[in-house]
Amino acid sequence: MATHISTRPASARQGSPVRPSSEAAAPLIITADEELLDRALASAAAAGVEPLVLHDVLAARRHWSEASVVLVGVDCARSLAGQALPARSRVLLLGADHDQEELCRWSMTLAAAVVVLPTQLTWLAAAMAEGVSAGATGVAIGVLGGSGGVGASTTAAGMAWRAAQDGRRVLLVDADPYGGGIDLLVGAEDVPGWRWPRLATATGHLGDLSQQLPRVDQLEVLAMSREVVEVPSPEALSAVIRTCRQSHDLVVIDLSRSSEALLYEGLRAVDVTAVLVADDVRSVAAGQRLIAEWGGAMSGPGVVVRSGLGGGVPAEVVASTLELDLFGVLGHDRHMRAGVLQGEPPGRAAGRRWSRQCDTALTTALAGVRHDS
Ligand SMILES: Nc1ncnc2c1ncn2[C@@H]1O[C@H](COP(=O)(O)OP(=O)(O)OP(=O)(O)O)[C@@H](O)[C@H]1O
Ligand SMILES: [Mg+2]
Repeated sequence: MATHISTRPASARQGSPVRPSSEAAAPLIITADEELLDRALASAAAAGVEPLVLHDVLAARRHWSEASVVLVGVDCARSLAGQALPARSRVLLLGADHDQEELCRWSMTLAAAVVVLPTQLTWLAAAMAEGVSAGATGVAIGVLGGSGGVGASTTAAGMAWRAAQDGRRVLLVDADPYGGGIDLLVGAEDVPGWRWPRLATATGHLGDLSQQLPRVDQLEVLAMSREVVEVPSPEALSAVIRTCRQSHDLVVIDLSRSSEALLYEGLRAVDVTAVLVADDVRSVAAGQRLIAEWGGAMSGPGVVVRSGLGGGVPAEVVASTLELDLFGVLGHDRHMRAGVLQGEPPGRAAGRRWSRQCDTALTTALAGVRHDS
């Protein structure tokens, strides 16, 4: 099939990618499927960008690397895979609902996030708009308890929920096989949607999972299942974190010391790790032991001190003893336990003071993260 350029859409141009008002390169759409193309162009119009459209993959090589984002119709996936093009980020694989099997199959090979149309038209428009701006990707933060029961899951959920209420796209990921399911902690246990077992063996890119995941308020949650005993593989955990960093502003992972393999992969996949340590001598000693063993695997580690439990070790002393940056201090919130037991997410159950402290700790932790495109 000869490579040719769509003549239909006024906004889609031939030749080198059209430069929109910014200096950034345009999105590239590769599909011969008229319906998919119509939908992709509708998203492009909504995003205010002018894409370059190719009906097959032969001409893709020339534009492959420079395009802000590449949208590949599932009809072209096989031939694109045969081209052995250089690896690049921001490749999206487009298909309809009935293409799910093919989408899953080629998503891995092409390292492409799946976009199901028309369901995800709005998401696609945002992705295209982002692709021609700074091209920032999301940030992943891991939260890990320096000792048991210190409040790590609560803090992870609190940070995630608060950020989601600010209008950010946030995913809370449960990486604790023995935590009882983080959906329970945020009051989403009855919300239908995928839990880990559905993704447990996944590798590569999984697409934008948003349509499938349970949601509470604006927060999306990927939880362990209480029904199925299937722990995600370390590869699946890192695949989900990598993929969701492309579709979300923030991915918060509730890490656990109970599975070393998951912890190691989780620590490697995040941009920053917040270690929660209570302000008493024993907890600090436990934190020291943890850092001695795992600190080498952590990116940008810092400590969040859990105060108010009577320990009384000043937060600065906790941080300097652990030789970590101090991300923040979280006090004891007397409403937390009862609120959470009634099914409220920690950010809603807690009072304003804890919420503010949670925001500060998150902001400080993220401040040191370098944004790569
Ligand atoms: N800042 C806080 N104020 C009051 N209660 C809290 C606070 N943080 C956590 N809690 C309560 O402490 C208990 C343990 O919290 P959580 O499950 O988050 O700890 P964890 O460190 O994740 O535990 P594990 O080691 O089992 O994973 C829960 O009952 C929770 O509601
Ligand atoms: Mg926990």
